[in-house]
Amino acid sequence: MPQISSWENEYQDSKLVTKNSEPQNDTLRFFKYLKKEAKLELENLNILDLGCGTGRNSNYLANLGNKAVGLEISETALKIAKSRARELGIEKNVKYLNLSIGAKYPLEDNFFDIALDVTSSNSLNEKEREIYLQEVSRVLKTGGYFFVRGLCKDGDKNAKNLLKLSPGREYDTYIMKEMGLTERVFTEIDFRKMYSQYFKIKKLEKKSGYAKFQGRNYKRNYWIAYLQKEN
Ligand SMILES: C[S@@+](CC[C@H](N)C(=O)[O-])C[C@H]1O[C@@H](n2cnc3c(N)ncnc32)[C@H](O)[C@@H]1O
Repeated sequence: MPQISSWENEYQDSKLVTKNSEPQNDTLRFFKYLKKEAKLELENLNILDLGCGTGRNSNYLANLGNKAVGLEISETALKIAKSRARELGIEKNVKYLNLSIGAKYPLEDNFFDIALDVTSSNSLNEKEREIYLQEVSRVLKTGGYFFVRGLCKDGDKNAKNLLKLSPGREYDTYIMKEMGLTERVFTEIDFRKMYSQYFKIKKLEKKSGYAKFQGRNYKRNYWIAYLQKEN
């Protein structure tokens, strides 16, 4: 079961998620890479935003002249995403669907040029994660790019503490008790093993950042991955 109530409660009374309506820096850097290295102009593309939250990535990309589809389990987040799209006058370029990224997508094969998972799939369980990998690979065009920002276990003291003090049922998961949310963290070996089954890893880097939770900043490590679907 996707953890709908934990995320829904989070959007109704935010302790963790950002209210920011602009893409996060790592995502903007990926867009620059697409332009410079992949020679991909960010317009007239089909974009899939997995766990789109309040639509900061989808609305930004739709505003540049792309067509975006955002999948999200929180209705409250989607209401905000849709209202921002209306304010920007881009409702026609963005479609928001209240669906789990861990179940089959009602989307056609080989359709999207770009898929984004900006810190969204860590709360999937193993079964859902397998479906997510298969579905992203199915709906992405050959040669299409997949950006993933995910939680990293290596060198992350907060993750190690959580794994020790509040372990979840599945491997390398912990429960964030205040949110009632279970999250998976990945070592580099596990991250590479998982994504390379379906995608070519063009770039993988570990970055530190701060997650704000209940007014406190926690240093966390993240994987930033640029992936591509090959033949
Ligand atoms: C940390 S937030 C990031 C939101 C957004 N990607 C961004 O960059 O602002 C994680 C998001 O993933 C969504 N999410 C978690 N599990 C999901 C699932 N199974 N299906 C769809 N969305 C999910 C949450 O509701 C939340 O909006």
